[in-house]
Amino acid sequence: MKSFKLNNGIDIPAIGFGTWQIPEGEDAYQAVKEALVAGYTHIDTAAIYGNEKSVGRAIKDSGIARNTLFITTKLWNTERGNDKTIAAFEKSLADLGLEYLDLYLIHWPANETQFEDWAAINADTWKALEYLYQQGKVKAIGVSNFPKEYLAKLLETATIIPAVNQIEFHPGYLQEETVELCKSNDILVQAWSPLGSGRILQDETLIALAEQKSTSVGQICIKFALSQGILPLPKSTNPANIKRNLDIDSFDLTEEDIRTIRTLPAMGFSGSDPKKVAF
Ligand code: A2P
Repeated sequence: MKSFKLNNGIDIPAIGFGTWQIPEGEDAYQAVKEALVAGYTHIDTAAIYGNEKSVGRAIKDSGIARNTLFITTKLWNTERGNDKTIAAFEKSLADLGLEYLDLYLIHWPANETQFEDWAAINADTWKALEYLYQQGKVKAIGVSNFPKEYLAKLLETATIIPAVNQIEFHPGYLQEETVELCKSNDILVQAWSPLGSGRILQDETLIALAEQKSTSVGQICIKFALSQGILPLPKSTNPANIKRNLDIDSFDLTEEDIRTIRTLPAMGFSGSDPKKVAF
């Protein structure tokens, strides 16, 4: 699989398998197993998804060499600050049954509607990630759902520039200012819900484009993210879709196609504004 290079020189497989909303137990186990058999080498989970144990079991049972896989998990919002962050990291590692992580992300920034000292909380939490990185327990560190203002604030105190910002990104929801700030700091953008959680699969323009190229809207969305230098994390529990979402070399998107997709009307959700997310 093709890869992106992170700002610390680490290679990251260009498409990752997302596991949000895939329930712990057989569902997560089977989905990750399918994904590994289909050829994904990059799996994205999070403590709050509750499925780290099954994700880890599927990885172990696959027999695939650990150093050929790229595994990401995320720090949940209740665990911010130095001590809690270190403990949460160790718990995730144990639940996944791994000795190290490839990427650890702060799941959401603390924000000003929750905490007066939100910026200091984010800075302290980031310092804990820097410590874990320096200890060699994780190959790269980053953030998630950090819109421009939060990322800019974090960069004021960060010693290590985040390698990644994982945000909601799909046709109709491009978060241009945040993407621009990431690119200008060599921070790789990862797209969660690159298919708009399935909500944009009925869009007529995308359907016409997919028909013209004998592919599916899902594959168009994945290729579109890649065309923007953004790493997509599609998720699926359907074996055919799991496979299909890796098959994106059989068609091309022209510059005009990309312009068409970029100018689709807004199809986003407020779920990605930290101030509106209730936790
Ligand atoms: P399913 O599990 O039945 O495949 P996102 O990654 O943007 O959050 O979107 C995930 C949703 O999109 C899931 O509901 C998933 O359903 C669906 N999905 C994933 N890949 C495809 C595809 N190639 N074609 C159609 N639907 C897909």
